[in-house]
Amino acid sequence: MRIVLYGGSFNPPHLGHAAAARTVSELLRPDLFLVVPDATPPHKELEEGSPSLDARIALCRLAFRDVPNVQVSDVTRGRKGRCYSADTVTALRGRYPDDELVFLLGTDMFLSFEEWYRFEYLLSQCALAVLPREDDERPALEAQAERLRREHGAKVILLPHEPLPMHSHIVRDRLRRRLGSDMLDEQVYAEIIRHRWYDAKPELSWLREKAYAYLKPKRIAHVAGCENEAVMLAVYWGEDPEKAAEAAILHDIGKKFSLEENLQICEKYGIINDHDELASPQVLHAKTGAAIARDLFGTDEEVTEAIRWHCTGKPDMTMLEKIVWLADCIEPNRDFPGVETIRKLAYEDIDAALAKALGMSLDFIRAKGREPYSDTVKAYRWYSRLED
Ligand SMILES: [Fe+2]
Ligand SMILES: [Fe+2]
Repeated sequence: MRIVLYGGSFNPPHLGHAAAARTVSELLRPDLFLVVPDATPPHKELEEGSPSLDARIALCRLAFRDVPNVQVSDVTRGRKGRCYSADTVTALRGRYPDDELVFLLGTDMFLSFEEWYRFEYLLSQCALAVLPREDDERPALEAQAERLRREHGAKVILLPHEPLPMHSHIVRDRLRRRLGSDMLDEQVYAEIIRHRWYDAKPELSWLREKAYAYLKPKRIAHVAGCENEAVMLAVYWGEDPEKAAEAAILHDIGKKFSLEENLQICEKYGIINDHDELASPQVLHAKTGAAIARDLFGTDEEVTEAIRWHCTGKPDMTMLEKIVWLADCIEPNRDFPGVETIRKLAYEDIDAALAKALGMSLDFIRAKGREPYSDTVKAYRWYSRLED
């Protein structure tokens, strides 16, 4: 059986890795394509904030899922210190004693191959398959191949493929700046955002697409309006506009669920509800939305809490919580008597705007013959300074 061995830190695995793997798979038709993430790569330490080996294995399973006969190996697990290819090949030889091993590597690695730990052992066990870069000079690679063949009896295959010019460190840098989804498989990107590995922050266009899938179509204009308003309020009041955007985009993702569905979500996330809340999907959607946002989109504490309190409000809210609560109330699609007063106040005295809006919300609920939520009553008293 022919086994291709593709090792690397895969931190994270990007589209360039996957394209290379597919091409190699077509050219060499291996019976087994083994992706081997390093526990710790020999040439570099993993950057702080990098996910664990298990996490990178999970990302590789997603990134390489279209490669025929692929398996992601955990053979480097538990290895202390540097993770050498020779150790990996020794371990694999234990599992596959009589099979053909083809070791896949890039130009830089190939040209410095004789500096590798136990390179002669590697050459005795594996053929080398080299993926050249776009700007490589073929003669240099051919000269190195020829020398390794002559001096060490190496088997070398120079592949015609040119890999995509992508590098994991550039992907990591872009992820921190709300970019990088174009360099990653969709599922890999979603998983990274979910865990916020690499300090990743979601691209807002991506987040909108995901969040809007949770909404009934008629609610999209409201959420878009809420985002714009929240960003304007954040800029005005010195809060982070991108956090405000994240919270606003996600604030109603629990909204379309029925009471029963909301209760199931509460059970899944261990959300405990009081008597009022159990009867009201209106309030529950803020809690379930916050839990879903944190679980699927990795929202931080501040953003999660702003979603959590966007419906009832509460005393002593953070600026982000106030902004999301008010943006939900005054975004341009809202039309109710008094909204213009609150819109004006929101940019003059945000606490006064909250007091006014919370008071109107209580009146509205009472006029419908319903008992208001205790958190809203407490919030109204707080912002109207009635608690003293
Ligand atoms: Fe809502
Ligand atoms: Fe809303």
